[in-house]
Amino acid sequence: MQIIDGKQVAQRFRGELKKRIDILAGKGIVPGLSVILVGNDPASASYVKGKEKACLELGMHSDNLHLPQDLSQEKLISIIEEKNADPRIHGILVQLPLPSHINEEAVIMAIDYRKDVDGFHPVNIGRMVIGKETFLPCTPHGILVLLKSAGIPVAGSHVVVVGRSNIVGKPVANMLVQKNGLGNATVTVCHTGTKDLAHHTRQADIIIAAAGKAGMITADMVAEGAVVIDVGVNRVDDPTKKRGYRLVGDVDFDQVAPKTSFITPVPGGVGPMTITMLMSNTVESAERSIKE
Ligand code: GUN
Repeated sequence: MQIIDGKQVAQRFRGELKKRIDILAGKGIVPGLSVILVGNDPASASYVKGKEKACLELGMHSDNLHLPQDLSQEKLISIIEEKNADPRIHGILVQLPLPSHINEEAVIMAIDYRKDVDGFHPVNIGRMVIGKETFLPCTPHGILVLLKSAGIPVAGSHVVVVGRSNIVGKPVANMLVQKNGLGNATVTVCHTGTKDLAHHTRQADIIIAAAGKAGMITADMVAEGAVVIDVGVNRVDDPTKKRGYRLVGDVDFDQVAPKTSFITPVPGGVGPMTITMLMSNTVESAERSIKE
């Protein structure tokens, strides 16, 4: 069993990104990312901090907006429109979930798809599905890069995805079926409506657990020698910790790990890759801005 060190892979990838950022600097361009957080969800605040830190470490321009919970949808959209028009901003990310009075779809649609570094705009999702160049969603792309870096063969493998969210399950399944260098897999997508989930997961060469349910993938659901990618980030109460909780994935790590050939930990697996792919999309957007 080998633990895939997402932090290390992310660090290597960021080293390559830094070179591209330096080339852009020579042309007078600093890639700029605007991260918009509405409200006070503690998990979202922590993700946003991580994105800001990565930007600054790479010498990128970080434009962070922390807006009140009761902000109107109209006001949010007008702020997005300002960022769409701002040439210093190459990427715009609105942290999800949004407060319930704001329509997520309307907000995503307001982002110029050429600055949609999350890859959530229907134009970018559509391009991804038909295999055209686009901004790939960050977590799915990070997973594919992680698999490649660990030398795990994806082409021809049977990948079972557990979860069908717009952020992870649906896009990662789509990317994996593409006939390209990172994909070409056979994909099964399981979800809350799946009958006998364990029957499916046991057939997998690679399991991608992205259901958002702590410890739901147990040892009996995993074939000997399978690869397990854990996308879950769940907070569970833990009075022994100073902050009162700890982070666990969707996989029961202690029980499952000994059966696997490769497994990602939580934290330190997929998480650092998500942020790295966001930086990569922002750099790519800045590069495109001089080509146009
Ligand atoms: N919330 C959880 N993951 C993500 C993400 O990748 N992007 C955005 N915008 N919000 C999220």
